[in-house]
Parts: sequence; structure tokens; C-alpha cells
Amino acid sequence: MNLQEAFEHYFQDISPEGRVHCPYRVCPIGAHVDHQHGLVSGFALDHGVNLIYAKSDEPIIEIHSLNFEGQIRFTIKSEPHIHRDWGDYARAAMKSLFEHGYEIKHGFSGVIEGTLPVGGLSSSAAVVLAYLAVLCRVNDLSPKRSDIIKMALWAEQKFIGLNIGKLDQSCEVYCKKNHLLYLDTQDDSYENIPCSVNMSPYKIGIFFSGVPRALVNSAYNARVDECRAAAYSLKAYGGMDYEKIADTYLREVPEELFRKYKGRLPENFSKRAEHYYSEYSRVKKGVEAWKKGDLHAFGQIIFESGNSSIYNYESGSPELRTLHKIMLDTAGIYGGRFSGAGFKGCCMAIVDPNYTEQIEETVTKKYLEAFPELRGKFSVHFCDTSDGVTL
Ligand code: GLA
Repeated sequence: MNLQEAFEHYFQDISPEGRVHCPYRVCPIGAHVDHQHGLVSGFALDHGVNLIYAKSDEPIIEIHSLNFEGQIRFTIKSEPHIHRDWGDYARAAMKSLFEHGYEIKHGFSGVIEGTLPVGGLSSSAAVVLAYLAVLCRVNDLSPKRSDIIKMALWAEQKFIGLNIGKLDQSCEVYCKKNHLLYLDTQDDSYENIPCSVNMSPYKIGIFFSGVPRALVNSAYNARVDECRAAAYSLKAYGGMDYEKIADTYLREVPEELFRKYKGRLPENFSKRAEHYYSEYSRVKKGVEAWKKGDLHAFGQIIFESGNSSIYNYESGSPELRTLHKIMLDTAGIYGGRFSGAGFKGCCMAIVDPNYTEQIEETVTKKYLEAFPELRGKFSVHFCDTSDGVTL
């Protein structure tokens, strides 16, 4: 069933009035640093979440999914409860609108789908953004793009309960086709840097490990706390002012302080900080390589970023680490790393389009030799970049 057929099947007496598409994202360099107010880069993909809907005069939201079982149906109210089901992302979007002072009276009937498997491409931010976009449309609200990002972030941080940064939402809103988004998550300044005229063609390879992502249960929040603890201790060693640990970020601590006092930090905290500072300079170098059109240099920096995520940030599952290793030795891959939180999910790579068949064959063969039980679950996709969500 496609979306239209599903809509007709579930809502027999009404027709869809509109459609929202929100892309997925990948972050080639600048991983795990947005929650420390670091520098990030990103692309939106030509795959994502599609939602078709019809406005409801009642304050009722009713959604079906092509990917998840069951129907989600609830009445609009400002204090929803979390249910720990796929409907929580719609509840989170609704709650966030109220929280930010918007009045919503109209609900909608909708059917939603994701066009790639879940895990590592930030489908959760894409889903929240799609619900926010629909709720705004049916209630005649037109928040600024920066406010939509804030609301989507609030939804995941405060309602779903993850200490994430703003990388995913910003990419899915600000990115432009064939441009690299370069964003400073401290002050939200950003640039969309076009492909250079010297640049060879490229595609974005996505390698799904076959193990779905589960951020809420992952070590994601623990890593954020380790970074905060490092920043807090470094501030104290360096005689800087500090207040609440929850409002402390590595971005506020000059790198010289880290170099001077890192020996006093517990090893784990020091490694997380090492990742942060080295990623900061990698993003800058990567942006320069992209500007010059040098995909080899850009790719190399992505690989280095991936290594730092493995050895300093210590994220990644055995499956993702194996994929990373395979990518390092595969012809036609300029560079690659885990995508997203990197505890499960997928790896992304910048690839030469002339090699896609060969890459798929080599990576699949080697990966399934290591994890034969994931046959049928592991998958490879080649994507192009795209624009962010249209609001
Ligand atoms: C997840 C989070 C983002 C970011 C990445 C890692 O996708 O939602 O905020 O921290 O992991 O770079």
C-alpha cells in the first residue's frame, strides 16, 4: 500500500488535503559535539518522512503508519502523557507548540511513512518536524524556521527525554541540495557551502547495520554527562567561573586549559574532551577541503572523525565498528563514519558514483561474513543530497 491508498483505506469518507516531506540527515564531520555547543556539518538526504493529512475540525489527531503497527488517536491537550509508543513524537510536537505559546485547536487525520529503515539518520527529528509542520498548517500558524528548530528540539529533549543537541533539526530545516551545511551550534550562525566547480561527482552511501537504533536506552545521555563533567572540572582547575553543571559546555573552556589540565581528569572524561577539541578543528579543515572541491581530503577527515568517535568518544557497537573498518579498505569510498548517535543504526560514506555496485558487493560480503545472522536485515542505499523541510 502506498500513502494515498493507505489514507483511503483508513479514512474512507475523507480525502487528503496536503503532504509534508521532511528529509533525513547525515553529519559527515562534527559528531557528538552539538550538545557541547560545537561546530557541525551536515547534508539532508533525498529520503525521509512523508506525511499526508486532512485537517480535522475536531481537536483530534489520528495517525496511521506504513512502518509501525496500530493507530494513534488522541485529543489535543496541553498536558499529554508519554505512552512509550510511536505516537509520542506527535504528542511531543503538540506539547511543544503549547509550551512555546501557540494555540492549536485543529487536529488532523494522517498517514506517515519513512522511506529508509530507522536508525542513525535522525528519523525522530524528521517525524517531529513533519508533525509540527502539519499542526502549523492546519492551525494557520507560521513560526520562523529557527523557532521550528527550537520546538522540535524541545520536543525530543523535554518530552522524549534525550539530552541531544540541535544538529538533526538544524540539518533537516536549513540544508540545501548539493550544499554542505556548516553550523555553529553555539550561536546558530550557519552557511550552506555549495559544491565547488572542481568537485568530482559524489553520492552518499548509507549502510544499515541491521541493528535498529534505540537512543533512549543507549549510552547517549551518559556521554553528554561525561562531557559536562570534563568541562566543569576544567573550569574549576583553570579558575573560571562556573554555575550549574547542566549549563556547562566544553565550548566555554579554551583548549589551552584542556591541554594544561587534562592529566588531572579521569581518563574517560579526558577522552571525551579530546574528541570534542579534535572534532572542532576537523570540522574547520573539512569545510576548507569541501570549499576546494577536494573530496579525497574531505573523506579522509570523515574517516578520522569516525576513528575519534570509536577511540575517544567510545561510541559504536561491534557491528558499526566492523562497518567502519570495512569502509576504510573499500575502493570508491572517499570517507565514512557512524551516522548519528552511533550506538546502533548505520554508517554513512561519501562515495564515487562509478563504484556503487562494487562498494555494495564488497561491503555486503565482508559484513555478512562477520555477522551472518544479519542477512536480510543489513542493507545498502545510495542517496543524493536534498533541501530541508518545506514549512
Ligand atoms: C544524535 C543526536 C544529535 C547528535 C548526534 C551525534 O543524532 O540527536 O543531537 O548529537 O546524535 O552527532
